[in-house]
Amino acid sequence: MSLLPILRFPDPRLKKVAAFVTRIDEDTRKLVADMAETMYEAPGIGLAATQVDVHKRIVVIDVSEEKNELRVFINPTLGRSEGVQIGEEGCLSVPGIFDKVERAERVTVSYQDLDGKERTMEAEGLLAVCIQHEIDHLNGTVFVDHLSLLKQARIKNKMLKQARVTA
Ligand code: NI
Repeated sequence: MSLLPILRFPDPRLKKVAAFVTRIDEDTRKLVADMAETMYEAPGIGLAATQVDVHKRIVVIDVSEEKNELRVFINPTLGRSEGVQIGEEGCLSVPGIFDKVERAERVTVSYQDLDGKERTMEAEGLLAVCIQHEIDHLNGTVFVDHLSLLKQARIKNKMLKQARVTA
């Protein structure tokens, strides 16, 4: 396994729309293992392949306290969504920035597991937020895009300044 570099907002590659995964093979399993290691190391609760510059519809999530419930979603799609929740979100691609985003409280998500098996699950609360946040990434959307244009501009400036300092 190896750690993968995470793209930082406003990197234009975060805007790419990821392609459907048509074959789940050894490379897919290696990528998922690397993504999981990268997410745990960061540390974060979710990571989309887009964030490591691989534009395939793959997401890893672990919202458990003990960090021992890795969930892998290949080709995830949202079905039914219900209710509203507003929570503070952050993102490994936008380090140090947290803001409130409105999301559905409950979602149904269909996806394939690492064996290619079709699955459907219902999620609520934090897991539901995380699923929506990560599927956004696959569609080229960062949580910052849900904020006001003024906030987006401020965050962009801050990130670009940080990039200059750390480069
Ligand atoms: Ni994110």
